[in-house]
Amino acid sequence: MRHYTGFRRACASLLASLLLAAGAGVRAGEVEVLHYWTSGGEAKSLAELKGMMAQRGHSWKDFAVVGGGGQNAMDVLKARVLAGNPPAAANIKGPAIQEWAALGALTNLDAMASFDRWDEALPKVVADQMKHKGRYVAVPVNVHRVNWLWANAEVLRQAGVNEAPRNFDEFFKAADKVRAAGLIALAHGGQDWQDFTTFESVVLGVGGAKFYDAALVKLDAQALGSDTLRRSLETFRRLRGYVDAASPGRDWNATTDLVIKGRAGFQFMGDWAKGEFLAAGQQPGKDFRCFPAPGTAEAFTYNVDSFAMFQLKAWEAQKAQGYLAYLLMGKDFQERFNLRKGSIPVRQNVAMDKFDECAKVSAQDFGKTAKAGTLVPSVAHGMALAPGQQALMRKLVSDFWNNPQMSVNDTQKQLLALAAGPQKPLP
Ligand code: BGC
Repeated sequence: MRHYTGFRRACASLLASLLLAAGAGVRAGEVEVLHYWTSGGEAKSLAELKGMMAQRGHSWKDFAVVGGGGQNAMDVLKARVLAGNPPAAANIKGPAIQEWAALGALTNLDAMASFDRWDEALPKVVADQMKHKGRYVAVPVNVHRVNWLWANAEVLRQAGVNEAPRNFDEFFKAADKVRAAGLIALAHGGQDWQDFTTFESVVLGVGGAKFYDAALVKLDAQALGSDTLRRSLETFRRLRGYVDAASPGRDWNATTDLVIKGRAGFQFMGDWAKGEFLAAGQQPGKDFRCFPAPGTAEAFTYNVDSFAMFQLKAWEAQKAQGYLAYLLMGKDFQERFNLRKGSIPVRQNVAMDKFDECAKVSAQDFGKTAKAGTLVPSVAHGMALAPGQQALMRKLVSDFWNNPQMSVNDTQKQLLALAAGPQKPLP
């Protein structure tokens, strides 16, 4: 009964805030939003959100921290929260949401979630990640697929690559042809998170979804010590031979640009890369191609962007924050945002007719793989491991990529040690 009364009060205040926000003459609030969406496609996607907030009179305080994959942003966020001055919302994903909620830093969004029926609107696997102890503390905006291989259509024609590479043997043959045509075969940005992104697609392609889940998500000792993981590491290392000399340290979007401009053939990257092709005015099928990463057509590594809402003191700021949460889950926003971001709406039943062929394949495969049990969380993008453990694995994978002296055997041993070690909590 108490719960019910509390819930009614929360709903009433929420509705009041929405109505107030819509009304004339009422001072709207400011939302400060921490994010790392600074590339061409990312900025265009975010501009939709800024515009929609502005339409309701709310002002947007941009808290952008440059750095693909969001590691820099997470460091800055920690400093702000520890100083007692959190932003209204921050782009936080997966298990990291649980860690922030466990610290008591996040706002309970249940009143909004019940009012707007989020449980019905979201796939359960996503809704569960947005909740801490059964209560919503974050709002999801999309589903990115990570296991993609991007290609420049004209480069493939020039090189005589006529088919999508279905496995890594075929990929290496295609890459040889691109190289023989005098171009960079594999555009790769040598940053640890990009190395890790490529590595997880290799493990998925070599071992399949069950193996990926056992090795990278469950950190199962048998899988980590297996011959399949050995082959994955060898395949990953072989890719390095197809990368250009300027790869180390290069940002992911500058790397995609090599494919866009026809200087490189392929890039392994999640579908935020598609946002770059689209922002450059290119069309899928015609100018660029989206292939499942070799050997992964039947699987899907998901990466859901979401905003956790921090506890705020000022009423005006809370009001704007509530409206932001409401907006983020709306069909209209999810369509406009995802058309530019490269991802697909996470809210179910958003019409896909305005989306391109890559997004349509992604939406179909999300459903298909969920049924088949081959929908797996992206480890490189913070969907599976605790942040401390993810960081350790990212470093190990990246060290292996950068150091040809590091043996496959040793790397497997270190992975096993990592799996057996304690998890590192948030500082
Ligand atoms: C995020 C994307 C982002 C990409 C590059 C991923 O981890 O989920 O939204 O575009 O990193 O920064």
